[in-house]
Order: sequence, then C-alpha cells, then structure tokens
Amino acid sequence: LDNGVATTPPMGWNTWNSFGCGISEQLIRTAADNLVSSGMKDAGYDTVIVDDCWFDPQRDAQGNIHGDPVRFPSGMKALGDYIHSKGLKFGIYEVPTDLTCAQRLGNYPGATGSQGHEQQDADSFAAWGVDYLKYDWCSQVGTLDEQVAAFSTMRDALHNTGRPIVYSINPNSYHADKTGATYDWSAVANMWRTTEDITATWDKHKTANSWSMGVMDIVHINGRLGRQAGPGHWNDPDMMEVGVGTSMGETEYRSHFSLWAQMASPLVAGNVLTTMTSTVKGILTNHDVIAVDQDSLGRQARIVADSDTELVTVRELANGDRSVSLTNTGESAATVSTTVAELGIAGAPSYTVKNLWTGASSSTTGAISASLAPHETAMYRITPGGTISTTQAPPANATYEI
Ligand code: GLA
Repeated sequence: LDNGVATTPPMGWNTWNSFGCGISEQLIRTAADNLVSSGMKDAGYDTVIVDDCWFDPQRDAQGNIHGDPVRFPSGMKALGDYIHSKGLKFGIYEVPTDLTCAQRLGNYPGATGSQGHEQQDADSFAAWGVDYLKYDWCSQVGTLDEQVAAFSTMRDALHNTGRPIVYSINPNSYHADKTGATYDWSAVANMWRTTEDITATWDKHKTANSWSMGVMDIVHINGRLGRQAGPGHWNDPDMMEVGVGTSMGETEYRSHFSLWAQMASPLVAGNVLTTMTSTVKGILTNHDVIAVDQDSLGRQARIVADSDTELVTVRELANGDRSVSLTNTGESAATVSTTVAELGIAGAPSYTVKNLWTGASSSTTGAISASLAPHETAMYRITPGGTISTTQAPPANATYEI
C-alpha cells in the first residue's frame, strides 16, 4: 500500500503469542519499558502492538469503542502517550466483521468488531495516536470479494484520518478459494498474513493435523509468494515464536529468525520480555540478520532447493550482495550445500562469505556448504570479490540472474 509507511518490513512486539487475552495497561507499559532496556528498540523493534481483548465489550451510547475499564483504566490515549514517550509506536487490533477472534471463539464477551463503525473506529485510533492497525478477518464465512471490500473500507477510513498508520491485515484463511497464495493484497495493505496462525513448533505437519502451523509449514507457503513483496507491501508469515514455548530450542529459533529475514517478513516478537534469556535476546537482536530483513531493496528470497532434508534460499540485497540460507530440514545431522551458479551469481572470480551467526568470514570460488544439526540454519552474506564490505558494488563481471 502506497501510504508512506512500512517501506521496510515493520518490526515490533505483540501481546498475543505469550499473553493472549490476559493483557492490561500495566503489562503493556512494562513491555514498552523492556523493549527499551533490553536493546530491542535499538535493534529496530519499534512498535508495541496490543492484540485482541483490549476493549470494553460494550460500545458506548454513541457507538464509540473504548479500552476495557478494568484492565485499561487510564484509557487507550494514555497508553499511546506512554508508548510514544518511550520513543515507540502504538499498535492495536480490530476486525472488519462483528466479532473479534476471541469473541467468535467464545473467549471474550461482546461483539465489538468494526463492521459498520469503520470511520468512527479509525478516528478513535487516530485520536489515541495509533500508528499500526492489525485488522483480522477471523471468520469462516466471506468471499474473497467481500474480504477485499471490507479490508479496503478500513484502508480508506485510515487514510481519511490523515494519520500515517501501518495497515496489517489477516485474511486468515488459507483456502484455495480465498486468500493466501491466491490474492495479491499489495494495493490494500502494508502487510497481509499468508497462512493460518503460527504455533511455537518447528514442523507441525510432521507431527499432527491441525489448523495451526509450525515454522516450516509456514515457510513452505510464504516462501513461494515472493513476487508480491516489496517496499510498502509485505507478505506476513505471522509473528515470531522465538523464545516462546518449550517445543523449539535455540537451533530452531535461529532458523526461524533467519528464514523470516530471508522472506523480508515483518519481525514481530511475541516472547515474554521480562524473562528473555541472553540467548534469545542475541538471536532477536542479531544486527546482520536484521540488516538482511530490513534491506532497502525489499526483495524476498527465492527458494533454490527444497526437500525433506534441505532448504536453500537466496535473497538479492540493495548493494548487490546476496544473503543465503542453508537449512537442514531433516532429523539427523547433514551437510547442506549450494554453489554460486545455483544461486544465480556465478561470474566473479571469488566471493567473500560472511556467516551471519558466527561472524566468521571466508572466501570461495563457488561452493558454499555447512555441516548442520537437525533443524539448523547457516545464513551467509555473499559479496563478489575479495573484501568484506556491506557497501561494495558488485564487480562488472558478476552476472546476476534473479
Ligand atoms: C487470530 C489471529 C491471531 C490473533 C488472534 C486474536 O487468530 O490470527 O494472530 O490476533 O486472532 O484472537
């Protein structure tokens, strides 16, 4: 969406993955404090997003929506002011239908969707200082045309407020006749979910049949939608589960983060910041990996190889470098390999290969390979020529075919 925001993938922290409906203004103020004190804000996580269940289950007599009076006694404007006072941006959640997801599932009272209140709610959000709206379909019914119409109505309502607001939508139905791979939302929103909800698991399809998804299930869908992504309009493979739950460990978290960066994804953390370990913090704040995610060219990686045992992706970067991921998707240790020819960058006499997780640099004339534990990813930045630089232009004899 060409509204002047989200020229690189949005970064932030969202309440949902760790807290669900159990949120309050105090919890969110503490999260804002922790984003700053942990260094997450300096690393780029600049938006605090209040997901479902923030609102009073009843609109007032004029139809205005308000924060829940018990858990948000100071009101949403005061919360926005607090978040802004920390140098952060304020995100909030609503839906285009009658019921929010928690309401539809019977986990929260009321019926406070924005349907029929779109401009009124957009005006409230703008008055509270909202900088980011997550707008979530959350319904089993609705044709694609109805979804496009409803999401466009709020796009226009936000535009009418005059406030720049990142518009994050969830068509939320990976059905062939609806959204996901089948519709390009880039004229409607700044980012759109491409899959069902993520859970803190590696590869759910291997272990269970469920509507929710693991990291690799999502990569296999979102990783093929790169042509839709670019500055101002991003595929959203959902919020991150780095540091969430017990099913994944540090190896999977690094892979998850590497692959989200390769896919030019919004980086929205969802872990508990007050108990974040230094390992998790180190993953989420890896400067080199974030630089790939935030690369100004905004081009999503393409998949070079994909099988039960390996996934290889390559991403073109603004300065002519390439970022590459090698993932061992199998269940035993393995070597995963590629070549500059396979990556479409053959032509230079040699390449500098910087490992973005160890920081080590080496040189190659063509082969790139890594010995990897199960579920481990090696991520590299590849620069044609002999010196390590993030600003160096590619040599004239390098031919790029992406
Ligand atoms: C949907 C969304 C989630 C979250 C919940 C809130 O499931 O996909 O990201 O916002 O609703 O109820």
